[in-house]
Amino acid sequence: MRIDVISAVPKVLDSPLNESILKRAQQRSLAEIIVHDLRDFADGNYRQIDDSPFGGGAGMVLKPEPIFRCMQKLLSERKYDEVIYLTPQGVKLNQKKANVLSLKSNLIIICGHYKGIDQRVIDKFVTKEISIGDYVLTGGETAAAVLIDAVVRLIPGVLNDSESALTDSFQVESGFDSPVYTRPAEYEGMRVPEVLLNGNHKDIAAWREQKGLKKYNKVRKKKLNNK
Ligand code: ADE
Repeated sequence: MRIDVISAVPKVLDSPLNESILKRAQQRSLAEIIVHDLRDFADGNYRQIDDSPFGGGAGMVLKPEPIFRCMQKLLSERKYDEVIYLTPQGVKLNQKKANVLSLKSNLIIICGHYKGIDQRVIDKFVTKEISIGDYVLTGGETAAAVLIDAVVRLIPGVLNDSESALTDSFQVESGFDSPVYTRPAEYEGMRVPEVLLNGNHKDIAAWREQKGLKKYNKVRKKKLNNK
């Protein structure tokens, strides 16, 4: 999979994309992630990429020209499956959407900044507007890091068997992972549940399922009758 990210502050993505599992995915050529600095596509000595909004109001808006230029360059080089704009006004990311995106070959992600991007960019190029949650970040880069992480780890071969994505929370309908423990079996007077120590895999699987479900119901299910 190839992912092109268009960003006003590419440095924000340096560490999230170049450590741990995402780094390994790129080293194994399972994912190619290229971050484009919007300023490289801007005009003049100042390389201005933003301007104040027409009609007034606080904040700055990313200008259309640099994004158009970057988009036109990329689109002239290959076909893209989706052009994603990250915004709090998008559809909310979930595991199902990450699964679908992980099957694509070429994605473009546009990161907004300040007050957002000129609407004409969205009208012309964007195929999906995605939000990572109902809160406002200072820019789309951190949201892009979240989206890329959620998608790339699902590409076959990225995770080892021991890290398998198949047992993740949310791969199963309305499921949470169960609590996990490692050595020592007793620490500060707190003992690991006996079932995990007895080696009975059937019992362990049943315990994990029940714990995950119980936590899900406690944390996510709306209480009925306002009780
Ligand atoms: N940009 C700013 N806030 C965001 C959010 N919640 N999701 C995606 N992109 C964003």
